[in-house]
Amino acid sequence: MPYTRSALLLAALLLAAPLRAAEPDAASLYATHCASCHGVDRLGGLGPALVPENLGRLRPQAAADVVANGRPATRMQGFAENFSPTEIKALVDLVYRPILPTPTWGMPQIRASHSVRVDPALLPEKPVFAADPLNLFVVVESGDHHITILDGDRFEPLHREPTHYAVHGGPKFSPDGRFVYLSSRDGWVTKFDLYSLRTIAEIRAGINARNIALSPDGSVLAVANYLPNTLVLLNASDLSPIQVIAVTDRAGAVPSRVSAVYQAPPRHGFVAALKDVPEVWEMSVGPAGAKNRFPLRRIAVAEPLEDFFFDPAYRHLVGSSRDGGRAVVLDLDTGQKVAPLDLPGMPHLGAGISWELDGRRVMAIPHLKEAALSIVDMQSWKILRRIATAGPGFFIRGHENSPYAWLDASLSPARDILQILDTRSLEIVRTLRPAPGKTVAHVEFSRDGRYALASIWEMDGAIVVYDAASFTEVKRIPMSKPSGKYNVFNKIFLSAGTSH
Ligand code: HEC
Repeated sequence: MPYTRSALLLAALLLAAPLRAAEPDAASLYATHCASCHGVDRLGGLGPALVPENLGRLRPQAAADVVANGRPATRMQGFAENFSPTEIKALVDLVYRPILPTPTWGMPQIRASHSVRVDPALLPEKPVFAADPLNLFVVVESGDHHITILDGDRFEPLHREPTHYAVHGGPKFSPDGRFVYLSSRDGWVTKFDLYSLRTIAEIRAGINARNIALSPDGSVLAVANYLPNTLVLLNASDLSPIQVIAVTDRAGAVPSRVSAVYQAPPRHGFVAALKDVPEVWEMSVGPAGAKNRFPLRRIAVAEPLEDFFFDPAYRHLVGSSRDGGRAVVLDLDTGQKVAPLDLPGMPHLGAGISWELDGRRVMAIPHLKEAALSIVDMQSWKILRRIATAGPGFFIRGHENSPYAWLDASLSPARDILQILDTRSLEIVRTLRPAPGKTVAHVEFSRDGRYALASIWEMDGAIVVYDAASFTEVKRIPMSKPSGKYNVFNKIFLSAGTSH
């Protein structure tokens, strides 16, 4: 036996030796061919950051395809001619490897990334266009990383602006609707002026960011980061950093990613969802110069909650457990749990809406893993109805001036279907298929609720404008994978038919 084992060992060594010699040196390949665009440290530059936290949505096979063949019409060229498949695989393995120790992105790095492009004193007093500035839509085109500013009356694009890679998490508007703030996957925050149609400032607040929220008085932006584990506060005026908060449990022992941060207008501050610690954070925003300007309240919960829905008064918060199996209602005044909520099938709370039904407020929540829409009575917190849908979807959208709510089934084989719910009878009254075979999602209403705009979520996609009463198509505007569109008026006046 010992003889056999050592023979095997020898054979294994002999086999392994040439293999090891041929193993490509991914680090040096990266340094030579990739670092100039993606950064020596992989934290990004002209190209996006290549760290596992940021690549979560890109499968390794798709990454290998990008490295081999590039991305059309971008600076990312294919390397199939330079590298063997083994070398490409080694590079892909490298970019999915965590950076250890975790890279630092604190106040010095954040400050160094800050730039103000336009002196606020030089901004025009009035819009440089004739359209209603409160009925603009900001359309995020994730196909080629642009935003389009769309006139919400004539449905004509007014302007197209390049953005950082992968803007996500929903833009936020200043209380007067003049400025829009964008956040990107790689932690960039941008301030854009809707009057002059110019980017006026930007800063990188993290390496991997989830979303941003603006304080109700419009003075402070909060950035929720996964990497590093921070909540970053910025001056909304010029995006200069105010404070970097290391997010941990009360004892300072367990760090946590921040799943999302929300504005809570009646509460004069922010509410944040922590991914790794069983706490919900409420942070008030005091006047500039105040001694303890951002008092923090930690609300202990049984397990980490994420993906929040708030009632219109911001008294109650509905949050779901990380695995999506449970949801609870918290009273934000008392910090106590009010009720458990039986919402299996991954409720997408952040996309829920509410309205009055027979004198009671109800909310409608789509599910990411179930072909159903849940209607919940917000007084008793009981499920009123589970409505069967064409398939799991992301969003439901309504408007105060329309009795109809629109939902998608974009996570299912019926991804090309939009369904229309009559919010009075709770019946699905119409099914639309704007582009057969192509994904349709994310409906948003115009300011007056007369039109509903849907996204054909493809590289050669479009915004389809519907008459919200007759459900007939009014116009189709070509766009590059328009992931979301946001109406200034509906956002700043907190329409209950959309999220904020
Ligand atoms: C000339 C600049 C440049 C060089 C050199 C370059 N890239 Fe890129 N890369 C980019 C840009 C820009 C993008 C984003 C393309 C887009 O808009 O989709 C990108 C995208 C990627 C992506 C997809 C990232 C994502 O989140 O979807 C991967 C993976 C990638 N590059 C890997 C590499 C590797 C590995 C190398 C070296 C072999 C390399 N790149 C060299 C500019 C570059």
